Amino acid sequence: MTVYLNGEYLPESEARVSVLDRGFLFGDGVYEVVPVYGGRCLRLEEHLDRLERSLAAVRIEPPLDRAGWRDMLTRLLEHNPGEDRSVYLQVTRGVARRDHAFPADTSPTVFAMVNALTPPDPAVRETGVAAVTMPDTRWSRCDIKAITLLANILARQQAVEAGATEAILMRGGRATEGAASNLFVVGDGVIVTPPKDQSLLPGITRDLVVELAADHGIPLMEAPVTEADLRAAEEIWLTSSTKEILPVTRLDGVPVGDGRPGPVWARMMKHYQTYKQQLREGRV
Ligand code: PDD
Repeated sequence: MTVYLNGEYLPESEARVSVLDRGFLFGDGVYEVVPVYGGRCLRLEEHLDRLERSLAAVRIEPPLDRAGWRDMLTRLLEHNPGEDRSVYLQVTRGVARRDHAFPADTSPTVFAMVNALTPPDPAVRETGVAAVTMPDTRWSRCDIKAITLLANILARQQAVEAGATEAILMRGGRATEGAASNLFVVGDGVIVTPPKDQSLLPGITRDLVVELAADHGIPLMEAPVTEADLRAAEEIWLTSSTKEILPVTRLDGVPVGDGRPGPVWARMMKHYQTYKQQLREGRV
């Protein structure tokens, strides 16, 4: 695997970062995960918009401009050929003697790698997955795609230990999102997803699903999802760049709807797969 590190393309085994890097010492950095289908990045400009918003929010000067990001990603993908892939891209505040306050003249550390993107398991499409609810113990700026993910990691691990695939996080009586995914529910045939605010990550997959619903005349509302809405939902889905649209068929051990992936999910999934195919063909 060839990775990108601070302007160089080199084998992963040769890439080295200082132990004083603030990403390592403080989790002081931001990241992106961009899916790539047939050599084309899905919603690249939207991913770069979000990266720039995250950098601005944590006050790291953008180390590359738009053209620089695009060029780097193109070259990195050329170094790592394959069909469906995802790019992981991370920017930290850089290397400095340890002190919480920002260091004076430090340039950011920029790292990127390419991973295989495994398509959703066909069995999952038949059966869906289990999720468990738990309190959202994260900070109050979940809109920033920060590498500081301890609360998300603990939530996901707790879900795995409960035999589930994902944790659905609850804050103030409302469901915010998954540990690493956005949340959709279907009630009375209407899709509902929580509105974008500082309590959740503005997912690129989420926005695409909202757009596909509008394009195809499928009713969708951006509105809070209460615990009662979640428990009464006919369908629950989780979305992310790596999970696409994942149907949740058991919540806290109780079947969701009839316990099988629902018809609204099947319809949306079809539109999502069509979008991916259009991307592969260079039509979107
Ligand atoms: N995570 N919410 C959280 C907390 C996430 O970590 C993610 C994605 C999402 C979905 O965002 P998007 O549709 O843009 O992937 C929502 C990535 C995939 C990760 O951490 O690996």
